[in-house]
Amino acid sequence: MDEQDVYISMDKPDLYNLGCAPLTVLAAKQVDELWSVLTWPRQPLPVLDVGCGPGDVARKVLAPRLPPGTKLVACDISPEMLEFCRQHNALPGTITYEQLDVVQPDLENSAVWQYAPFGKVFCLLLLHWVPDNRRAVQNIHKLLVPGGEVVFSVIANMVFYTAFEEMAKDSRWARYMQDVEQFVSPYQHSEDPVSDFRRLLQSEGYQVLHCDVAPQVLFFPSEMQRRDFIKSVCPFLNRVPEDQKNNFLDDWIQRSEKLNGLSKDVGSSEKPKYYTHFNIMVAVARKL
Ligand SMILES: C[S@@+](CC[C@H](N)C(=O)[O-])C[C@H]1O[C@@H](n2cnc3c(N)ncnc32)[C@H](O)[C@@H]1O
Repeated sequence: MDEQDVYISMDKPDLYNLGCAPLTVLAAKQVDELWSVLTWPRQPLPVLDVGCGPGDVARKVLAPRLPPGTKLVACDISPEMLEFCRQHNALPGTITYEQLDVVQPDLENSAVWQYAPFGKVFCLLLLHWVPDNRRAVQNIHKLLVPGGEVVFSVIANMVFYTAFEEMAKDSRWARYMQDVEQFVSPYQHSEDPVSDFRRLLQSEGYQVLHCDVAPQVLFFPSEMQRRDFIKSVCPFLNRVPEDQKNNFLDDWIQRSEKLNGLSKDVGSSEKPKYYTHFNIMVAVARKL
């Protein structure tokens, strides 16, 4: 398995975008709740959205809330995501989309570096994709101006990951999942993710202004929509042969249902509702 495999994690922007509306709503709610913790100088520096995915959060959540005239640089590791951003979420004069691997060692040679220092960084739903969280927070620290602030949201734990760990031991799937721990949130087995993340940030030169973890539920109007979304965030699917992809997905979904991470509410209405459950950690930190 070469390094490239690790980075093809989210290369289905169309599918992800079809299902990501609930995550955009969640991001808007989180950003609104934390907005008062942030400070905005009179001449705002550029703002960075790192791991921007299809660009919905950049265009629909961040851009409308920023002080007028603020430049927003949105970046992602995935060329497919960036192409989708430029086609569907362009905002000329405000947003620039650039490629960045948040853990890349030669940060100074990246396209994003030319816009630094940033006054704010939004790092939403990214760090559970990144095994080396220390390197990521170090790079974000380098990109920020002293006193600049960063907002993180991270999936702390989720039964999807437990299901992956089970499947990695199943002889049908083991050969595709030897590096399963690279795709499990670094906080999945932590007894106290908030303390772990706080300690990491403090040791890398941040003052932690806020950090908590809370259960979240995402609602999908149909089973198909939930399945497509799940498909778009499944890092192993590209490795599974075409004729086994559906079995792989079914197995992942059934295991997640058994572990109570996916649920269906038939309720009183005709149409059942489909839910996905996880714990999400949210933090705000300032560069010292
Ligand atoms: C779940 S999406 C989050 C999108 C958006 N931030 C949101 O909140 O809706 C995670 C994104 O992180 C990107 N990503 C994964 N690893 C990355 C890395 N090392 N550097 C930058 N982006 C990365 C993926 O390509 C994907 O687009």
